[in-house]
Amino acid sequence: MRNVSLEQISTHPITQKYLKRSGIAHAIAVAEYAFVYAEKLGVDPDLATKAALLHDVGHYTWYRNGEWDYDLYKENDIHAIKGASRAHKLLIRVGEERHASKEIAVAILLHTDSYLPGGELKLNPLQKVVHMADEADEEAGGKHHYKEIEDHRALERIRALDQLVEKEEKSHTSAHIG
Ligand SMILES: [Fe+2]
Ligand SMILES: [Fe+2]
Repeated sequence: MRNVSLEQISTHPITQKYLKRSGIAHAIAVAEYAFVYAEKLGVDPDLATKAALLHDVGHYTWYRNGEWDYDLYKENDIHAIKGASRAHKLLIRVGEERHASKEIAVAILLHTDSYLPGGELKLNPLQKVVHMADEADEEAGGKHHYKEIEDHRALERIRALDQLVEKEEKSHTSAHIG
């Protein structure tokens, strides 16, 4: 049983504030991809979609002379670290279960290795799903962060995804009972 929906998370003022920096359209697209990949890899779609929706919530605005400076960002960015902590705080605040909050936060921490000094990360299936979903929506030069979406359209897609996750969780529970 889910105690927090994607709609509750996405409409929260903290989510709105920070996801606007990295792009709501990107966050939603990644959450939709994560649902598909979660099915394929046998990962809990509830955790996968929540981690995917929030994966870029840690972005800072790297502006120089009014424009996003990609080099400055590459050199100084820690958005995965910041995002993991920010998402965790938010999830606990909206009533997410503690262990789920941790799983989601760690998947956000590991969704990219761009800030790490090197070496291959060993990802678990949930972390893999979020990483793959993010890559699926990536565009050259960070263009995926600038995709526009109208508020009502964003909410429609979040609600549709909530319904898919709920349906999936229900069929999973009944399969276990039956
Ligand atoms: Fe990211
Ligand atoms: Fe991303």
